[in-house]
Amino acid sequence: MKICMIGSGYVGLVSGACFSDLGNTVTCVDINKEIVEKLKKKIIPIYEPGLQELVERNSKKKRLLFSTDISNSIKKSDIIFICVGTPTKNNKADLKYVFNVTKSIKSNLNRYKIIVTKSTVPVTTGDKIEKILNSKKNQNKFDVVSNPEFLREGEAIRDFQFPDRVVIGTSSNKANKIMKKLYLPLIKKGGRYFHTSRRSAELIKYASNAFLATKITFINEIANLCENSDIDVKEVAIGMGLDERIGSRFLRAGPAYGGSCFPKDTRALVSTGQMFKTNLSVVKSVISSNDKRSNLLLNKISKIMNNKIKNKKITFLGVTFKPGTDDMRESSSLKMIPALLRKGAYINYYEPTGKKKEFKSKNVNFFENIKDACKSADLIIIHTEWNEFKQLNFKKITKKRNFKVFDMRNLYSISEMKKNKINYFSIGR
Ligand SMILES: NC(=O)c1ccc[n+]([C@@H]2O[C@H](COP(=O)([O-])OP(=O)(O)OC[C@H]3O[C@@H](n4cnc5c(N)ncnc54)[C@H](O)[C@@H]3O)[C@@H](O)[C@H]2O)c1
Repeated sequence: MKICMIGSGYVGLVSGACFSDLGNTVTCVDINKEIVEKLKKKIIPIYEPGLQELVERNSKKKRLLFSTDISNSIKKSDIIFICVGTPTKNNKADLKYVFNVTKSIKSNLNRYKIIVTKSTVPVTTGDKIEKILNSKKNQNKFDVVSNPEFLREGEAIRDFQFPDRVVIGTSSNKANKIMKKLYLPLIKKGGRYFHTSRRSAELIKYASNAFLATKITFINEIANLCENSDIDVKEVAIGMGLDERIGSRFLRAGPAYGGSCFPKDTRALVSTGQMFKTNLSVVKSVISSNDKRSNLLLNKISKIMNNKIKNKKITFLGVTFKPGTDDMRESSSLKMIPALLRKGAYINYYEPTGKKKEFKSKNVNFFENIKDACKSADLIIIHTEWNEFKQLNFKKITKKRNFKVFDMRNLYSISEMKKNKINYFSIGR
């Protein structure tokens, strides 16, 4: 099939490359010329394991193309995936990018096409897109389908190739048949194809993300209780997770959830609730609890440092919101690092993706290896759960005698740390 992905970021590029790997001819379009120029040279602008190889292989076979020419790319394609960002504006999903793309599609509908929202969009967005596209000239020339994307950064290719479910929201039998054919190779590998109404598909995405955010926030609050009651939250999480109705995933206590999806999607869901006069009180309290979490952890850092942050050297191991990605959107480090700087700390950090982040302070330094980042640290904070932070010999990587470790991911055993005489702090135990 001939496919066009509009927006070549995490979702558009990964799913476009994966669709091309299934034998389709895919054009990934972006308005950002720099991104497209890089992609044409096979330089991948984002960090996503396995993506380089996938892009090279399918570009070589001429099944994966990159372009800034949105009109031509739409005209020559049968299925148009909208994969642009839907950031938050005034606590709502800002749909300006989605509607800009819709207008481009409207002026290039030369024959029947399926317009698919892969961007996360609020309930009724499909209806609005349909309204924009509708005209006498465009009658029977399109169907608007919702196909939310569930891939996780860092594991995006595997998630796309082996999905738990493919959700297709449409009332058109024609569009449903074509979408099923497109996804057939993944369904044959065990992915469940779920055909539903367009509005349901839109809500499934938000409800799923809000539920996962709730699970994280729930265990974070239980961790607070564990800290005050001499209980190990890891044991509690294991005991809970053994119940199949609960499950163990997303029950790991740590910093506030962040990233490009959970914070904005929980806020947008509350706003959808307001649109339909429905009070989503659970989601509201999850947002509020998560918003407070970085401050709570900052207080804990102060306590660990006996309220002496000024002139202390604090090293962050990892600054992204999770491992396997270079995405910094709404990472909790973006709240914690500036707050520590305001208190007079010097921040060193090491980030395995090798990309420097913009902290805009001369008191923040990026290091290319763990040892250099940690050697003068008074406090080492394990912020992101990268594998390379799981077996550190802290006494070898730092020269300071009285250094402390704050493990925000509970990667180390308390008894081991005690045995090694390391001043060690973790979460919820
Ligand atoms: N990142 C994730 O893990 C993830 C997972 C599932 C769903 N989503 C959803 O997918 C959508 C995209 O997310 P992302 O992380 O890929 O965003 P992104 O910011 O990485 O990429 C969006 C791209 O769209 C491009 N763009 C904007 N307007 C355009 C236009 N008019 N024409 C062509 N290109 C245009 C931008 O230049 C950018 O490169 C969002 O709605 C997001 O919520 C993201």
